[in-house]
Amino acid sequence: RKVAILISGGGSNMLALARDMADPGHPAEVCLVLSNRPDAGGLARAAEMGIPTAVVDHRSYPDRASFEAAMMAPLRESGAELLCLAGFMRVLTPGFIEAWAGRMLNIHPSILPLFPGLHTHARCLAAGMAVHGCTVHEVTPDLDSGPILGQAVVPVEAGDTPDALAARVLPMEHRLYPPVLRRFVAGERAPLALLA
Ligand code: GRF
Repeated sequence: RKVAILISGGGSNMLALARDMADPGHPAEVCLVLSNRPDAGGLARAAEMGIPTAVVDHRSYPDRASFEAAMMAPLRESGAELLCLAGFMRVLTPGFIEAWAGRMLNIHPSILPLFPGLHTHARCLAAGMAVHGCTVHEVTPDLDSGPILGQAVVPVEAGDTPDALAARVLPMEHRLYPPVLRRFVAGERAPLALLA
């Protein structure tokens, strides 16, 4: 199965997925890493692994629909059958999501349905949570609300700042996303739970 990974930044989740898919026994392979930011650090990391990359700069388009139409070209050319959003920071229109219905995953740094949207670590601390974590889910038109495919949990520790909490969650994202993708490609939908 051909997988395209969409990024906007450093691409650490993309790397975790790409390294896992480098296993010849993996049922999927990375066909493209696509970024909406020309300066995304993940582009060089993907290129170092020999993975084809593309940039569709959202700032070059007047609206979301034309930006998404521009993304479809490299996605189609790459033969992508499944999309993994990995640190991709653009909200997608229902039209684009519909075109990839059932074939687009995302990782979000909270235990959904808690804290959809941005600044999840600060909101978690403000709520006085004892636990935090990340969720891999299918992408549906409602932001961060599709069927949950996996979750990983970490403790909130005394004195945690949002950055300290984010730094504890990120490695769990890298441990969660690869096995969830394997299960998804294998047709499994029961959510995976990773406890720290
Ligand atoms: C991180 O904040 C992560 O929690 C979220 O996207 C951001 C960048 O991730 N999933 P990456 O290093 O670009 O994968």
